[in-house]
Amino acid sequence: MAQEYKLKGVSSLALQPGEKQEVEVEGLDAKVLLLNAAGTVQAIACFNAKTGDVEDAPALNALPVFKATERDGAVYITGDAATIKRGNRTPNFKCTKSGDDKVVVVGGGSGALGVIEGLRGGGYQGAITLISNEGYLPIDRPKLSKALLTDLAKLQWRDEAWYKSGSVEVVNDEATEVDFGAKTVTTKSGGQFAYTKLVLATGGTPRLLPLQGFKVLGNIFTLRNVHDAKRIVGAIGEKGKKIVIIGSSFIGMEIAVATSNGNDVTVVGMEKAPLERVLGEKVGNIIKKGVEAKGVKFYLSAGVDKAEPSASNPSNVGSVHLKDGTKLEADIVILGVGVAPATEYLKDNSAVRLEEDGSLKVDEAFSVVGLKDVYAIGDIATHPYRGPGGEGKFVRIEHWNVAQNAGRTAASHILSPNRTPEFYTPVFWSALGAQLRYCGNTMGSGWDDVVMQGDPDQGKWVAYYAKGETVVAMASMGMDPAMAQCAQLMSLNRMPSKSKLQGGLDILTRIPGPRLAALSNIWQARHVRNGRVHELGKTLHNIYGPVVRVGPNEIWFTSEGGFKKIYSAGNGYEKSGFYLATALIKPSLDWRLNAHFPDTLDFLSEFDVKRYRLQRRLIGPLYLTSNIKKFESAVDGVIEAAVAELRALNGAEVDLKEWMHIIAVECLGAVVLSWSPGYIKNRSDGGTSTHSYLGWKRKSVFGLFPTITKMSFYSRTLGRAFSNVWGLTYKTPKNFKTFFTPVYQKASKRIASALRGPRQPGGAKTDHRNDLLTDLIQLHKERPEFNETYLRRLAVTNFGAGHETMCSALTAAMAMIGSHPDVQHRVQQEVRHTTTTTTPAPGGGTLTYDNAVRLRYTQASIKEAQRLHPVIGMSLSRKVPASGLSLHGYFFPAGTTVGCHPVALHRNPDVFGVDADEYRPDRWLQEEEEEGPARVRAMERINLTWGGGSRACPGRHLAELVVYKVVPALLREFDLEVTAMPAEGEMMCYFMAMMTGVKARFRPVGMAGERKRLVV
Ligand SMILES: Cc1cc2nc3c(=O)[nH]c(=O)nc-3n(C[C@H](O)[C@H](O)[C@H](O)COP(=O)(O)OP(=O)(O)OC[C@H]3O[C@@H](n4cnc5c(N)ncnc54)[C@H](O)[C@@H]3O)c2cc1C
Ligand code: HEM
Repeated sequence: MAQEYKLKGVSSLALQPGEKQEVEVEGLDAKVLLLNAAGTVQAIACFNAKTGDVEDAPALNALPVFKATERDGAVYITGDAATIKRGNRTPNFKCTKSGDDKVVVVGGGSGALGVIEGLRGGGYQGAITLISNEGYLPIDRPKLSKALLTDLAKLQWRDEAWYKSGSVEVVNDEATEVDFGAKTVTTKSGGQFAYTKLVLATGGTPRLLPLQGFKVLGNIFTLRNVHDAKRIVGAIGEKGKKIVIIGSSFIGMEIAVATSNGNDVTVVGMEKAPLERVLGEKVGNIIKKGVEAKGVKFYLSAGVDKAEPSASNPSNVGSVHLKDGTKLEADIVILGVGVAPATEYLKDNSAVRLEEDGSLKVDEAFSVVGLKDVYAIGDIATHPYRGPGGEGKFVRIEHWNVAQNAGRTAASHILSPNRTPEFYTPVFWSALGAQLRYCGNTMGSGWDDVVMQGDPDQGKWVAYYAKGETVVAMASMGMDPAMAQCAQLMSLNRMPSKSKLQGGLDILTRIPGPRLAALSNIWQARHVRNGRVHELGKTLHNIYGPVVRVGPNEIWFTSEGGFKKIYSAGNGYEKSGFYLATALIKPSLDWRLNAHFPDTLDFLSEFDVKRYRLQRRLIGPLYLTSNIKKFESAVDGVIEAAVAELRALNGAEVDLKEWMHIIAVECLGAVVLSWSPGYIKNRSDGGTSTHSYLGWKRKSVFGLFPTITKMSFYSRTLGRAFSNVWGLTYKTPKNFKTFFTPVYQKASKRIASALRGPRQPGGAKTDHRNDLLTDLIQLHKERPEFNETYLRRLAVTNFGAGHETMCSALTAAMAMIGSHPDVQHRVQQEVRHTTTTTTPAPGGGTLTYDNAVRLRYTQASIKEAQRLHPVIGMSLSRKVPASGLSLHGYFFPAGTTVGCHPVALHRNPDVFGVDADEYRPDRWLQEEEEEGPARVRAMERINLTWGGGSRACPGRHLAELVVYKVVPALLREFDLEVTAMPAEGEMMCYFMAMMTGVKARFRPVGMAGERKRLVV
């Protein structure tokens, strides 16, 4: 259960944005990382305090975040002890196996875990058998050398119950033979395991030294598994030992650090500096200095000659002799001289050819070259490398995350053989006094230069390894976000060049995105002008990941984290300068060109937060469903008239968007003013939807240039010129009549009449109309703060904000349902059944709102259409506040424009599922499944259909009254045939987005008797 835990030695949350601090949790054997992300200080599960082991950035599980509070000079975090200690959350894995497929995985390490999690996570239902000779379940192997851990409970990634829950059979045995023809694996104890797909993940065997004494003397160890660690720990006993470590690469160096406390530790290495082969001499020496500070001694550029027995116990080692004659006393010797691929069981197998080093050559999907249905992953796989400088050269990389990602890649290939394998940047980390991070790879390309940034004396530095101008790898200490950033940029092949880094470029300012977007807003504006922003939402994040730069100062996020930060209900960010372009009134400008708007109630473009809050509070009660439902009969009247007219059309082809606009405007007319614009009768909206859409095209491009927008308020010439250059100028057709004119006139007349008072000549008669304007006038009378300016504006705003949005939502719902016959069939079943059982009137009567919202499948179909085709087709852009924003390893300074593109957010597979691109209403109806309700709640929450946080749509309940009634009513009366459906890329979308160009026929289904037949 969650409770508060005090953080040791921390008295305040005074961290700067982007700053972080590791702290111990009192009463728990755990540490957390306190960090200031965009002004909010949070604690992130970090690592175990006693062992000092770290979690890798690309760790198996996600890191949970805990709330941090400051009180009485102390800081507390809230969370449950187990989660804080464990430091991560386990992904869903459960499965009951079925079918004849059977994957056998040989080996129980990092790669194996990646495969089985990839398989079950990707929906694989077949059998999985894991054969491992290690004697326990897969462990977090890197921890062995960082803390010489021997406690399996702390090392095992998953417990037995977890494997059982995923129907994974774990066999504790050694594979001795594989018959690739008969597709079976034989084990040492005589077991035979048939497979349909085989994954070999047997890792590495530590090399020994073929020198005198090393093979025969005791107390000489290697370290690969818990048995080895136990032997080493046993030999060290009460400490005070002389330990000689041979090999100055990662494992040797880590063991040196791990054993340095209380022992006399010496590292012997062949290179001039430790880790020189991977990191170069300079970086090697920086690290050497840190390790020397722990008391470790080094003998470098040294050759080992032999090991001599101990005088007191001749069966054990007593000293190591170097080629230069140096004699190093040793109670214990640990070898860290590399590993060889553990493939002995394949050595004599004629069906397979091992590489010279004993590894297996695989393709990009980790499928073994020359064998069918066999994969090799991890330390035994020699695979093509496509990272920077790799050019597909074959390499073998011994990293934990490479093995695991290879496992996931193989799993994905087993599930969908045609899917192109994803490239993962190799990443590793090491505990060398401080935490070293490394990404990329130099094996394929080599490197000829290192660019250093930062200050090694401060423990904060980055080294970039370059071959020519290409940066092929990087290492860092004390600058983790830089590594996360580089890993991402390398995956996208967008690392900056060596010269740029030499010129001082800070990698953290390098956010992925189209190159041209970083230069100017023109890039985005061109896409907007061409109506392609819906497409950008669909594609950009797929290419660049969860954070994309779309302008020099504009970033889009598609992550839950981004969404929550930007649109949280209480602390959401303020609107960006984009909304200047949607302003209804000209602002005044001060000398700094800051815009100041008069207080007129212009919700969409209101920048004054205090003013906005007051306005929203005032009108809130009127727009609640409880009040809005009063106007239901007005909507019924419109529906009846629309149905009659559409029936009269007798299945003739119509423009769907125009008809939905007709209905939207008529509904608003009836609800707000008890008035009809005559669109239904005329079977036309008089071109108003097309005309106002051109207005959105213009506003959407202007919005990207706030300064020009401001200036164009004052210089019409400038505005016109800009419009012309961008092709945004449009002509109003002759005789064009917008409904806004009568709306404005009627509202004004009624307001004037109501406010003129009964005593004056010609004074108003009591107005008995039951519509929203009556309520608004009443509100004005009761609450003077809701002044006459507000009243007049809001009367019209209902139309301005509601006509296209409702048209867009209705069009999306009808187009998607109409173009998916199975969905339409189920909706009609539901609608017609409900109608006939709840409304027995001849002809069906109307469907009440209360009944409409109970049509669960119909509701899901509408929500699903709104998800894929939200009314807002561009980012709902906001401004980073003064504290800045730290997210996904980047820091965004105050004033950066940030936002989520609804189209992208709504296709985030983590929230909406891997099939997020598909129209599948059932995703909203998962109550039966174990995690279903939680998934649906997340989809409702991480959603921009109605906007976000405190700036979410105030007209939602009014819109729902209309949409939730109109869609079922039309599908009860008609079979909808979508006759033309342009491809999504061909539908022009702007900030306001509509499914344009959809043609449809409304085919009447006849009277109630006929409808009844459809009820099963
Ligand atoms: C001490 C140590 C520290 C490390 N630290 C880091 C680090 O900090 N960062 C990093 O990125 N990498 C690190 N590595 C490397 C990393 O652990 C390996 O690259 C990774 O574990 C490889 O995964 P794998 O699945 O290929 O093999 P392994 O994880 O080694 O798993 C292989 C499994 O196969 C089993 N096996 C072998 N032969 C057979 C057989 N014939 N039948 C059945 N089972 C068999 C083995 O017992 C073992 O369970 C470290 C390695 C060690 C040893
Ligand atoms: C199905 C129909 C509708 C949908 C999907 C919808 C959706 C949205 C969305 C997504 C926003 C946020 C825009 C942004 O942050 O940039 C918004 C804002 C707004 N909506 Fe709606 N809307 C609909 C109908 C209506 C109606 C009928 C009204 C009439 C009252 C209305 C009034 C407003 C107003 C005034 C705002 C601005 C709020 C602000 O910026 O703070 N909407 N709407």
